[in-house]
Amino acid sequence: MLNNLVSKKHRGTLSFFREFVCNPLAVGAIAPSSPNLAKAMLHNLPLHSEDTILELGPGTGAFTHFIRASLPNAEHYVGIELEPRFVHLLEREFPDLHFITGNAEQAFSLYQQTQLKAPSVIISGLPFASFRRQVQDRIVNNIHQLMSAGSVFRTFQYVHAYALPSAVRFRHTMDELFATHQRSQVLFNNLPPAYVLTWRMAGC
Ligand SMILES: C[S@@+](CC[C@H](N)C(=O)[O-])C[C@H]1O[C@@H](n2cnc3c(N)ncnc32)[C@H](O)[C@@H]1O
Repeated sequence: MLNNLVSKKHRGTLSFFREFVCNPLAVGAIAPSSPNLAKAMLHNLPLHSEDTILELGPGTGAFTHFIRASLPNAEHYVGIELEPRFVHLLEREFPDLHFITGNAEQAFSLYQQTQLKAPSVIISGLPFASFRRQVQDRIVNNIHQLMSAGSVFRTFQYVHAYALPSAVRFRHTMDELFATHQRSQVLFNNLPPAYVLTWRMAGC
């Protein structure tokens, strides 16, 4: 059982690294996020039986494990991932969750096709700091369309990339659309260290 888990973990890490080598800007990290970052990404989120959750860029499932463990209703999860090989891994690992091979630039229409109610929570692993301005804007626009009163958007940014113009621009654009974000303490127990950032749509 333990061997099984370890080899599954290694398979995920290897695929992740392989995809990073082929497409560094889209993958945005050399290894999946740590369980410590995953826990911080899920900390204090409203996940009740009626809540729906959208995950953008689940990769090999570093956050998905924790989402699945805290989500009462598996039918209320949607993951949108660009890389088909990651989606294949995710579907094997989480047969009761729904993954879409697709681009977060079309997140609104992809999510609408599921006919679920608007997401209460959007968890994003997307590497916004490495996206071109137009890509960033298109994805933020989709997030804006998906958010409703009381919903939460959460992502992370690496400390070493936090001051990059593209990272600052992303935060400013989001702050203009939603109330100013909340930033966690530095998570030194993730490599590289990161901040968790949360935006809430005003309303309830
Ligand atoms: C930094 S990795 C994070 C993966 C995982 N959430 C984690 O924390 O280990 C970014 C992920 O976003 C995916 N991605 C990048 N651009 C995307 C896009 N436009 N639409 C959907 N997924 C995208 C990549 O394929 C990759 O799986």
